[in-house]
Amino acid sequence: MRPTYNLAESLWNFVVIMTVTFTALFFPLYIVFDLHVYDNFFFLVTNWLTTIIFTIDLVINLFRSKNAKTENLFDEVESLPEYLKKWFIIDLLAAIPFGFFFNSAFFILFRFLKLLRVASFMHYWRQKEVKQNNVLALVFFVYWVSLSAHFLSCGWLALRGMNLQYDIWANYLHSFYWIVTTLTTVGYGDVTPQTNKQMVFTIFIMILGVGVYGYVIGNIAHILGKKDPAKAKYLDNMDKLSALSNFRSIPFTLQERIRDYYFYMWKKRFGYDESSFLENLPPSLKAEVSLHLKKEVIEKIPLFKDADKSFIEEVSFFLRPVVLTPGDCVFKTGDVGNEMYFVVQGELHVYNKEESMQFAKLKTGDFFGEIALFKNTPRNATIRAVTYCDLYMLQRSTFDKVVSKYPEILDKIEKEIKIRDDREVMN
Ligand code: CMP
Repeated sequence: MRPTYNLAESLWNFVVIMTVTFTALFFPLYIVFDLHVYDNFFFLVTNWLTTIIFTIDLVINLFRSKNAKTENLFDEVESLPEYLKKWFIIDLLAAIPFGFFFNSAFFILFRFLKLLRVASFMHYWRQKEVKQNNVLALVFFVYWVSLSAHFLSCGWLALRGMNLQYDIWANYLHSFYWIVTTLTTVGYGDVTPQTNKQMVFTIFIMILGVGVYGYVIGNIAHILGKKDPAKAKYLDNMDKLSALSNFRSIPFTLQERIRDYYFYMWKKRFGYDESSFLENLPPSLKAEVSLHLKKEVIEKIPLFKDADKSFIEEVSFFLRPVVLTPGDCVFKTGDVGNEMYFVVQGELHVYNKEESMQFAKLKTGDFFGEIALFKNTPRNATIRAVTYCDLYMLQRSTFDKVVSKYPEILDKIEKEIKIRDDREVMN
């Protein structure tokens, strides 16, 4: 079972993250603006509060790791020995108010170790949240970039020194503005480095900016590309069609039919073939996932509706989606038959060999192509799609392996064959 934080734990994690973020935002400012931190009332209160929260967190983490169930693969709570080895020292250093003992702002930096904890929470969230994983990745990325920009702004302020013409916040804003324009590679050039140290710092920011910029663009492109795989596939196919039409002369009507087919596949999502994804799963999961994905469609087919659950589970994995466009011929009279089909949606007509006589209409829930499999004969009719059709196809090998194991299904198919035979005799 996947572990989850309960509400109280989630709230506590939120409090810790807010405290760490507050510390990361305000404490560098205290140092840069030389606010005589240990005389400053606001700093004293926040520093004590941080000490209390980080100490409680240390105790909670110790307690949780003592009770951790290590067999839980995804549990981000380590066992006690693991916690002591990995996190304890970090949590401890971040919790101790060194500054009070040594009276130096430098020791505030130990608090920032707790940012590693935030990174670990984020990692856990991303593991847990499958659906919005990409969006979370972007939100967390923005968090880290903003924090880094803030640290760099403080660094730039420390190098430049305060401009006494402006107040503290205006000084900070100028610095933040310079960092953002440089990181985003906009660089207006209105603020330039004056000393060697500032120049080295600027070179560092510029190199960092190129990396950050590339990462952001790459990530956004990746998220948008993966957001709707069916749409991505549609656009890719349209590009291929357009390239092919340019190099080889494909008649316009044929181009239109191909375009309509891809458009239908995209809109219906029916043709989004999940089989390659299922291939990589272990057999037990494969059957369950496949059943879940196809359940709604299988329920539309009367033959399966009242069938044994184990039959549905077995057969669902082997059903392959097939899409037909209006006018498509599924097979002709006399063809060798190795598959049978189930109509999920659409209409098809059954004809004689010359297509001069129509035997029947097939609609949602009907099946066809069973006679060739059942009797081992060539196709006894020609079948053509009248509208766009969504079908499920079942191979002969599966039919022989799975269907023949269930006499009640064979019985139903046999009855239908008899009805069809009788109808043709009447015709
Ligand atoms: P098969 O012979 O494998 O291929 C042609 C299919 O057409 C056949 O199986 C039946 O599934 C279907 N078929 C033949 N005659 C009729 C009918 N009268 N009504 C409905 N379907 C039919």
